[in-house]
Amino acid sequence: MERKRILTGDRPTGKLHLGHYLGSLQNRVRLQESYECFFIIADLHTLTTKPGKEHIAQIAEHAREMVLDYLSCGIDPQKAVIYLQSAVPEIYEMNLLFENMVSVPRLQRVPSLKEMARSADLNEMPFGLLGYPVLQAADILMPRAHLVPVGKDNEAHVELTREIARKFNYLYGEVFPVPEVLVGEVGSLVGTDGNAKMSKSLNNAIFLSDDEKTVKKKVFGMYTDPNRIRADIPGTVEGNPVFIYHDVFNHDKAEVEDLKLRYREGRVGDVEVKEKLVRALNETLIPIRERREQFSGISGLVDEVIYDGTMKMRRESRETIMLMRKAMGLSGTWNKISRKAETVKKKREKAEL
Ligand code: TRP
Repeated sequence: MERKRILTGDRPTGKLHLGHYLGSLQNRVRLQESYECFFIIADLHTLTTKPGKEHIAQIAEHAREMVLDYLSCGIDPQKAVIYLQSAVPEIYEMNLLFENMVSVPRLQRVPSLKEMARSADLNEMPFGLLGYPVLQAADILMPRAHLVPVGKDNEAHVELTREIARKFNYLYGEVFPVPEVLVGEVGSLVGTDGNAKMSKSLNNAIFLSDDEKTVKKKVFGMYTDPNRIRADIPGTVEGNPVFIYHDVFNHDKAEVEDLKLRYREGRVGDVEVKEKLVRALNETLIPIRERREQFSGISGLVDEVIYDGTMKMRRESRETIMLMRKAMGLSGTWNKISRKAETVKKKREKAEL
């Protein structure tokens, strides 16, 4: 039996951090064993809030950093198609066709868009940003994906995709599977500063590409219980980022329980808690570092992965677009007109001979 297909991806914002690893990369590495995977580098989506040329000029480098992180985490280009959205013309085309299958009020109700406009400091909603989830529907339906693993913030976009798929199938005949969403059960990871979300722009991230020294420095600068000014003062474990990280990354559960107990009783210093966290984080990061070392040593490897994936996706996309045009009767319009035109031209040529 053919494998079911997964589509997911990211906007290329550069190097990825522990939050990405926990929330999606780890899961993708697992899923690639049982699904045919498509991972999109969604650079067209970045235009919805950052259309400037100076931003576009950075996309290639950001995409390279991101894909090197993918490979370092264990994403295997033999099992997953990694491709550049803006280099697949059929996505733009499908986006336009889908624009007719959704209403403006429906899009205005998508909760994430207003938030995106706000955080990008836009006081008016760009047409393209309103269409963000429509473009995402084109991403998802282009490889006719069955499953879409995303974070909670993207769940509404997949819901819209399902509506578009149903609407298309209803209007023109079955072309698309109605894809299922797979929402990551891990929420976002707190930042090193205690902020709810680890993020590059908040400057509170531990990157997958950070070396041991940097990780140590970041962990030792981490926010903990601010009331605990001395090691013998009882501290709070709940909501304390250092212990949240221990819970997530430290596989020695007995050690974590022991640290928590002593922390609550004021019998452990921050240094010990943090040193043990550094060790635990490195257990996750060392294999990632080793693969990075190996891959970044091969000149052009990342570019070749993106190139091959994009070429493969182009072939795939031409097939889907043909199915769509056929189902819609759009190819029929052109066939009628071009056939007649060609006959007429041939006749004229003959007559002129
Ligand atoms: N919207 C995703 C984000 O928040 C990126 C993305 C674009 C995506 N197209 C996708 C995710 C298709 C899953 C499927 O960055």
